Amino acid sequence: MARAVMMTEIPPSDITPEARYLSRRQFIRGLGVAAGGVLFVRCAPTGTPSPEAIITTHTQMTAAAPTTVPLTTPPPAVDELGNRLTSYQAITNYCNYYEFTFDKEGVARLAADLQLSPWQVEVGGLVHKPRVFDLDDLRRFEQEERIYRMRCVEGWSKVVPWFGFSLARLLRAVEPMANAQYVRFETLYDPAQMPGQKARSYPWPYAEGLRMDEAMNDLSLLATGLYGQPLLPQNGAPVRLVVPWKYGFKSIKSIVKIDLVEKMPISLWMAVAPEEYGFFANVNPEVDHPRWSQSTERFVGETGRQPTLFLNGYADQVARLYQAMDLTRWF
Ligand code: MTE
Repeated sequence: MARAVMMTEIPPSDITPEARYLSRRQFIRGLGVAAGGVLFVRCAPTGTPSPEAIITTHTQMTAAAPTTVPLTTPPPAVDELGNRLTSYQAITNYCNYYEFTFDKEGVARLAADLQLSPWQVEVGGLVHKPRVFDLDDLRRFEQEERIYRMRCVEGWSKVVPWFGFSLARLLRAVEPMANAQYVRFETLYDPAQMPGQKARSYPWPYAEGLRMDEAMNDLSLLATGLYGQPLLPQNGAPVRLVVPWKYGFKSIKSIVKIDLVEKMPISLWMAVAPEEYGFFANVNPEVDHPRWSQSTERFVGETGRQPTLFLNGYADQVARLYQAMDLTRWF
């Protein structure tokens, strides 16, 4: 991010389909839906490239509904563009979480003891029904599996089978006021648990923002798990944002506060280096970072570089949000 790119490789390794199956069953039980049964719908068939992101829906049924198909199917091996999913090992051991360390491979160990429960997310600001959500409240939103590419501004990327729910659902629950233009997100501030908050004089807590129409776009996800397992601390447990068409730094981890506001919020990176990290941060191979090209990327766990796609390959879903904007100016 604010310093030169680290390019250490993680050896690719995969968990077995059986391990995935077992952990998924445990995760679903953890969500408290076992009694009601789980409906399993795969919206885009495996192996069929489609312009849509792959979305798998796990619908909670009422107690009276018939028991439906259990989660026996592992996620497909590739995303809708044919990119291989990044292994669980690589996703969880090559991380950016500066509240702990700048060392991508050191985050998992340092974050391991982050206390995840109790946890609350306070949602307020310009809303009619401000509310504090605890983890059980968040788990009551319909959970879906979504396979998204995540492109870090540093030039590496991952393909991740997230699990979570659409941010729009949460926002609708608090009833935004008409003058709410932006959404501001905040990570936990707890220097006793997060050594990086003591070591660096950044304007903590980590904060990020979206314009209201971006936040309401169905692709914007609040993730609670990946590969069918609850999120680990290093990936932003217990709940993080995932905005797949923007550089990864927008996808803020371990969220404790969400405010709807009138003015464009100042993110941590805008405060630290405004000439390098803009508010929009849309993935764009045509607009270089001041210190490096953005035209290619390396999938974590793989060798070689791939061309970077405009809006990270999600232009069909989100390009219309920026029709009136010059994206070379609004980076
Ligand atoms: N959120 C917080 N709170 N702190 C961070 O340092 N890093 C961001 C983003 N969210 C970061 C964060 C960056 S730069 C990236 S690329 C992604 O998280 C990385 O997510 P991952 O570690 O799960 O791959």
